[in-house]
Amino acid sequence: MASLTIRKLDETLKTYLRLRSAQNGRSVEEEVRVILRGLIEPADPSEPPSAPPTPAPPPEPMVPQPGVAREARVTLIIGGGIAAYKSLDLIRRLKERHIQVRCVLTKAATQFVTELAASALSGERVFTDLFDARSEFDVGHIRLARDCDLIVVAPATADLMAKMAQGLASDLASAVLLAATRPILLAPAMNPMMWSNPATRRNAATLQRDGIQMIGPNAGEMAEKGEAGVGRMAEPTEIADAVVAMLKPPTPRPLAGRRVLITAGPTHEAIDPVRYIANRSSGKQGFAIAAAAQAAGADVRLIAGPVELSDPKGVRVTHVESARQMLDAVEAELPADVAIFAAAVADWRVANEGDQKLKKTDTAIPPLTLVENPDILATISNLKERRPGLVIGFAAETEHLIDNAKAKFARKGCDWIVANDVSPATGVMGGDRNTVHLLTKDTEGVHVASWPIMTKDEVATALVAEIARTIGPAA
Ligand SMILES: Cc1cc2nc3c(=O)[nH]c(=O)nc-3n(C[C@H](O)[C@H](O)[C@H](O)COP(=O)(O)O)c2cc1C
Repeated sequence: MASLTIRKLDETLKTYLRLRSAQNGRSVEEEVRVILRGLIEPADPSEPPSAPPTPAPPPEPMVPQPGVAREARVTLIIGGGIAAYKSLDLIRRLKERHIQVRCVLTKAATQFVTELAASALSGERVFTDLFDARSEFDVGHIRLARDCDLIVVAPATADLMAKMAQGLASDLASAVLLAATRPILLAPAMNPMMWSNPATRRNAATLQRDGIQMIGPNAGEMAEKGEAGVGRMAEPTEIADAVVAMLKPPTPRPLAGRRVLITAGPTHEAIDPVRYIANRSSGKQGFAIAAAAQAAGADVRLIAGPVELSDPKGVRVTHVESARQMLDAVEAELPADVAIFAAAVADWRVANEGDQKLKKTDTAIPPLTLVENPDILATISNLKERRPGLVIGFAAETEHLIDNAKAKFARKGCDWIVANDVSPATGVMGGDRNTVHLLTKDTEGVHVASWPIMTKDEVATALVAEIARTIGPAA
């Protein structure tokens, strides 16, 4: 008589059998017996109808893919330490963060917390035994190791760390850890003497060299009366936040190694030491572009006129007042791969800037003679040496937007123009939204791409994405 080993069936059949047995409330073996009996016996009308065979679902991606909504999965290994009770709270904290948790308890852990508590909190079966035939059939230690996005060990006992460092697989927890292909996060917890013991120090160093991440242990009071030092397990919320950070896909850095130079804000052109000519630019759009380029991995240099904004994180900012200072600062930051001139630079300045405050007199109003400021966009666009590979100008217009932007494009010699309507009704000047048109050119002429109304942050992200598509990261 031939025997049937269910474990050796192909995955599609096993999935079908599991689904069907779960639906009918039987074990898989029982379900197989029912199916076989059904082949030789007439159908029992009291039997619930069996579900039609469903095709096996495609294997789910292990790592969250962009655009695919799926809860992340964590295998949580609870070691036999006094801090195990905190791991029950950790299960809750992970679930609050929409992370599915499947628990493995070491034999020692079951002395501190019950399987029942871990399964009630996780909503999943709990695994404890390497040699449990049912667990091996249902999931198996290899699947426990791989059918997740991350493995967390909390508390990581001195004993578990030693087993891991030596590559032992003598129980379910250590076998899962040895078979793991997913990242591992340890939250060690032990008496300070155990933590500072040279053996534990060696094991911790080996594990870190092996690429295993650790959180804690923290310093503080121990469970043992009168003991304090380094050895307390990190708090459940700390561990849960570290898990979330580890589950995040790495941020793409499409402009890594590129230097991006950006100007932003208005300029102030002095009339005398206390008065100046200004404009309504807030600098928000340029600052948003600087932040977006920095997030894309670029080395960003921002030259800012007088604005009421905080410097974007990770960006080198030079603060200037006037158009001439802005040009000097721009030149000082060359060479650059990309230059984006988003500042609203005053076209004119006062020719006869007073050294002293102009006095009001009864006789005459002082005349203000204006002279042209340097044209920063044209100057940089027409550099013979050190011209950035991609020069982008902004055209803020209040009328005939596209025609004026095209004329500016032709005049300045830059590569792209971002045109926006800044007439008062749009609320663009100082506001948080912007409607822009991106003008580019090739051998066939000028192309205008009109973007929908977006926040200035969204415009910045879209522009940086367009730049990254065009120039990419440094070779
Ligand atoms: C009351 C009590 C508390 C313990 N607390 C810890 C602890 O916090 N950290 C630790 O590494 N070991 C602790 N141990 C020792 C472990 O339980 C022991 O090393 C055990 O073999 C660990 O098994 P495991 O690593 O398979 O969970 C404790 C033991 C007892 C009796």
